[in-house]
Amino acid sequence: MSDPLLEPFDLKHLHLRNRIFSSAHEPAYSENGMPTERYRLYHEEKAKGGVALTMTAGSAVVAEDSPPAFGNLHAYDDAIVPWIQQLTDGVHEHGAACMIQLTHLGRRTSWSHDDWLPVVAPSPLREPAHRSIPKEAEDWDIERLVAKFADAAERMQAGGMDGIELESYGHLFDAFWSPAMNHRTDEWGATADDRLRFPLMVLQAIRDRVGAEFIVGLRMAIDETVPNGIDTPAGLNILARLERDGLIDFVNVIRGATATDVLLSEVIPIHGMPAAPHLDFAGMVRSKTNLPVLHASKIDDVATARHAITEGRVDLVGMTRAQIADPHIVRKIAEGREAEIRPCVGATYCLDRIYEAGEALCLHNAATSREATMPHEIPQADRTRKVVVVGAGPAGLEAARVAGERGHDVIVLEAMPQAGGQIVLAARHPRRVDLIGIVDWRVAELKRLGVDVRYDTIAEATDVEDLEPDVVIIATGGLPQLPPLEEGDDRVVTSWDIFSGDATPTGRVLFYDDHGRHSALGAAEMIARSGAELEIVTPERILGADIGGMNHVPYARAFNETDTRITLNQRVMAVRPEVGVLCVEIGSDHSTHRSVRHVDSVVVDHGTLPQADLYFDLKPRSTNLGAVDYGALLDGRPQNLERKPDGAFQLFRIGDAVAGRNIHAAIFDALRLVKDL
Ligand SMILES: Cc1cc2nc3c(=O)[nH]c(=O)nc-3n(C[C@H](O)[C@H](O)[C@H](O)COP(=O)(O)O)c2cc1C
Ligand code: SF4
Repeated sequence: MSDPLLEPFDLKHLHLRNRIFSSAHEPAYSENGMPTERYRLYHEEKAKGGVALTMTAGSAVVAEDSPPAFGNLHAYDDAIVPWIQQLTDGVHEHGAACMIQLTHLGRRTSWSHDDWLPVVAPSPLREPAHRSIPKEAEDWDIERLVAKFADAAERMQAGGMDGIELESYGHLFDAFWSPAMNHRTDEWGATADDRLRFPLMVLQAIRDRVGAEFIVGLRMAIDETVPNGIDTPAGLNILARLERDGLIDFVNVIRGATATDVLLSEVIPIHGMPAAPHLDFAGMVRSKTNLPVLHASKIDDVATARHAITEGRVDLVGMTRAQIADPHIVRKIAEGREAEIRPCVGATYCLDRIYEAGEALCLHNAATSREATMPHEIPQADRTRKVVVVGAGPAGLEAARVAGERGHDVIVLEAMPQAGGQIVLAARHPRRVDLIGIVDWRVAELKRLGVDVRYDTIAEATDVEDLEPDVVIIATGGLPQLPPLEEGDDRVVTSWDIFSGDATPTGRVLFYDDHGRHSALGAAEMIARSGAELEIVTPERILGADIGGMNHVPYARAFNETDTRITLNQRVMAVRPEVGVLCVEIGSDHSTHRSVRHVDSVVVDHGTLPQADLYFDLKPRSTNLGAVDYGALLDGRPQNLERKPDGAFQLFRIGDAVAGRNIHAAIFDALRLVKDL
């Protein structure tokens, strides 16, 4: 029986080769607002991987007064057309359709980007997420912006796009029709018809400019789920009107709003939140319209995607983060290799990074967005070498996987009875169990590749040497370190003790987060949810300094719901025993003032220190004495440093065994080293 996901679909005149698309998402890979090589290769990879349609950009901005808050493409600039042409050519060459999402961000941006023009919206209502207070659009803004939308659409058509999608949830376009965002009393807002005037003018202007054949779609919140917003009947009415007037050719269904991180996390749920939460809603919309219905929201596994098509919920199913994690999903389905799909674990590091660090990266696919230098498909090596990897955490597993794909003879030595390292601990957090997919996928791949994994094996230097390796990779991870304290090291436990269950603090608990990452807030959340009376103290000026907005939401919810006290800008200086309690002395970097708390337990997180004794034992016996040729590493050349020619093997260390970082860093360390071994 043929797979419903692989059935073709005709969207107007556009023949799509299957039912899986990648919805618009701005990964912030642009250079000066242009989709240059990195951008193109990123989308080409999805096309190579078999996707039917890739919706490029995500909020490409149609006007200068829509400052690009997250690396958005400058659709307002004529200079973009040749770049768009290269992008569409690249995607088309691999058989996929290519469209682009256009928008004016309205109030959903920050005025302090690019040209520093004031942001504009129907009403001067501050958007909490970006903290901008927009100017109220004047008549000349409205005239100007209608033309800007049409100009941008024409540019995309000129660049060979198969169509465009207008973003209509939380941006300028739908801010006009949403009573929650449009408080005007004039002809642009007094009545429901008035509120529709601007969007209808935009769509008509686009139609007039690009013609009847060019595909124009709308990504629309059919129900904004906010007080006074567009509700389902209102949303369906608007949709029916646009359909009747022939203004749009498809609808990409959204349920929800974006004005706060909490709302956005319901539109783009992260792990620990329900899967496919709006799929039935999309199905309801499909039953009310003749337009093709597209939808994406945490449909991250093939079975759910297949269900979405089989049960007629949608015409095209979006698997967006799923294809950030594995751009070759469709090809693997078609080749009967579904089990080899690298799973999206919903960590949403990708989305959080566009704000926190200016580029989307997948937590556990270091090749995504690095297509120019990092392969998604690992090529075979010219000669087979014996590679011994010590440690089966994320770095070691990835090193073994890549070495296995290269065709090397690989042995993994792991001290524990199972693989995963710190991920096993992190996945003990009830909300973050899906992280174990990072481990499970690699363990399954190692099995497929015939890698010899030896558990319960504590490797000494001689054990490694006895295996007569050509290359040794030390991926032994790290161990928790304590923050500097004047006194009381022996009175505290660490996050790891919470995850492992070795410590289950009760009563009054003080958590000292001097790290700002998931290990800290994750452990703190588990304590808070266990019923303890928790205070988190951190020297940072925000909570969880290295955790992005989407991931922050469930932590904040837990701390709110448990009345957790959060103390910023302060440090734990010392922990002293008093009768029956611990006395915690609190200071700060900002003053000499000190205060005191009396608690039952103190938990700390200060990251990890490398556990690298084996590396240092082996170092004198290696040919490179552990040295890495960074030039070769960054240029993608093999490692050929020889500092001791009569040494027995090349020696490298990766991941937290070098310095405590995160899962992506560990996996990237492994991929870029081993792909050239
Ligand atoms: C890095 C990133 C950027 C995104 N930017 C946009 C955007 O600009 N416009 C948009 O409509 N959706 C955007 N999205 C949302 C996605 O299109 C999609 O709705 C969301 O990821 C849920 O689908 P998924 O669970 O299949 O990933 C973004 C998502 C990610 C991960
Ligand atoms: S970072 Fe997480 S959510 Fe984003 S694509 Fe990768 S696995 Fe999926």
